[in-house]
Amino acid sequence: MTKGFFITGTDTDVGKTRIALGLINKLNTMGHTTTVMKPLSAGCDSTPDGLRNDDAVQLIQQASFKPDYDKVNPYAFKPAIAPHLAAEKENTVIDLSRIKNIFDELSAQADYIVVEGAGGWKVPINKQQTMAELASALALPVILVTGMRLGCLNHAILTIESIQHAGIPIAGWIANTLSKDFTELDANIKTLKEHLEIPFLGTVPYMEKCEPQLTGQYINISNA
Ligand SMILES: Nc1ncnc2c1ncn2[C@@H]1O[C@H](COP(=O)(O)OP(=O)(O)OP(=O)(O)O)[C@@H](O)[C@H]1O
Ligand SMILES: [Mg+2]
Repeated sequence: MTKGFFITGTDTDVGKTRIALGLINKLNTMGHTTTVMKPLSAGCDSTPDGLRNDDAVQLIQQASFKPDYDKVNPYAFKPAIAPHLAAEKENTVIDLSRIKNIFDELSAQADYIVVEGAGGWKVPINKQQTMAELASALALPVILVTGMRLGCLNHAILTIESIQHAGIPIAGWIANTLSKDFTELDANIKTLKEHLEIPFLGTVPYMEKCEPQLTGQYINISNA
């Protein structure tokens, strides 16, 4: 069976990429080979090589097996809007089976594949499907990155309920400290531990700079 993780978050901008980079670094340090996917991205930069998304570029940098960009990020859109809307503007339909085929190819080339979603769990990817169907098709255990800020309790509990309802395996959740000034951090983490009956994989502290090696040290995947 393919080993890896699907990284989702309580929202956009909650630290999915930061945590994914830390996780990949940790897996590499443990002696595993790693590869990555960021199937959908919006808000890409135009470069001489084509559209490039910063998350996908950073994930490739961190992975030990580095596939071609187009395989890591088969759907890359320029406007920073919801991916299915960006796709519609280009008369493109995001096709889950195309993503799954590439995923099968890449996941056979490393011990672990780390896949970063876009936005949160229920972000639509086309008229019928959401990120949830994408994660389900890839059949990887999900890690929920909870961006610790006001509103995160509701978002985290709803997200986990939805993942469980879909019958998708959950590796656990991570508390990611997005700000130095979030009061009641510990009390919020305690509340989520009480409400989420899934493994807690650690608290990543606030860090000015993105440091994958240090981030990885706060992520406990020994039981994941
Ligand atoms: N632990 C942390 N300490 C300090 N800053 C953080 C931390 N985690 C994330 N950030 C910052 O928060 C912002 C969002 O993080 P990141 O890009 O990882 O989120 P994301 O969930 O991947 O976003 P997107 O939905 O755009 O993919 C970035 O500027 C990042 O550097
Ligand atoms: Mg990201």
